[in-house]
Amino acid sequence: MIKKFQQLLKEQKSNTGTYEQRKKQVMKGSIPEHVAIIMDGNGRWAQKRAMPRIMGHHEGMKVVRKITRAANELNVKVLTLYAFSTENWKRPKMEVEFLMKLPEEFLSTFLPELIEENVQVRVMGNKERLPAHTLNAVNNAIERTKENTGLILNFALNYGSRDELVYAVNKLMEEADPNKAVTEADIQKHLMSGDLKDPDLLIRTSGEIRLSNFMLWQLAYAEFWFTDVLWPDFRGEHFLSALEDYQNRGRRFGGVKDVDKK
Ligand code: FPP
Repeated sequence: MIKKFQQLLKEQKSNTGTYEQRKKQVMKGSIPEHVAIIMDGNGRWAQKRAMPRIMGHHEGMKVVRKITRAANELNVKVLTLYAFSTENWKRPKMEVEFLMKLPEEFLSTFLPELIEENVQVRVMGNKERLPAHTLNAVNNAIERTKENTGLILNFALNYGSRDELVYAVNKLMEEADPNKAVTEADIQKHLMSGDLKDPDLLIRTSGEIRLSNFMLWQLAYAEFWFTDVLWPDFRGEHFLSALEDYQNRGRRFGGVKDVDKK
């Protein structure tokens, strides 16, 4: 009885009910088709616990699994995760090596479950500089999940938006036609995100308010959602909060609201 009362009090305190109640409510509204996440704060999470930074990345890897499941259950179609940027090579060698081993560990642990859940794994970024063991692990996952029709789990790995745009411009120059002007669609076609729809929602954890060279073109009309929560502490509840806020935003894509058109 006391336990039940305490539970009720907890639900009331959160003001929004249990996870399941909130999830049910959110699923009645518009779900962002593509959510992109800058998973930040792993180092600080570890430092707060007097642990080496890599322990934060390892904990962050487990959160990737949790949020993939939450996104899939909420009918998000694409989840893009910024796992390693073109600038991250500047980090200490040991940290870079550890980060390059994480896709392997993640996939060797979770690939069977991802297959079970019909998740399709993709990678965007410059694959040339990736170590062979990383590349083999991701290529194997891409191959084994390519027919899956559920959530697309898209890892941005050795990805940088400026690098992507330079690549796209060079491609356009190769196929240049002096009689034809370049269009937005031409640029879009050569981006590493390929046929994926632009993100509707961008989440960044750890209190930093910047894009850090992430999907600069594709995020042009995305809603941004920032939280102080460090990535290893990020849970389905926080993901739901982002979706709840998203549903309260009025997206106009540069136009006006329907009611203002009259
Ligand atoms: C930024 O935090 C995080 C990264 C550079 C790496 C993110 C990688 C993961 C969360 C794991 C990826 C998992 C897979 C399966 C590929 P930071 O180190 O900059 O944190 P800080 O700002 O607190 O130092």
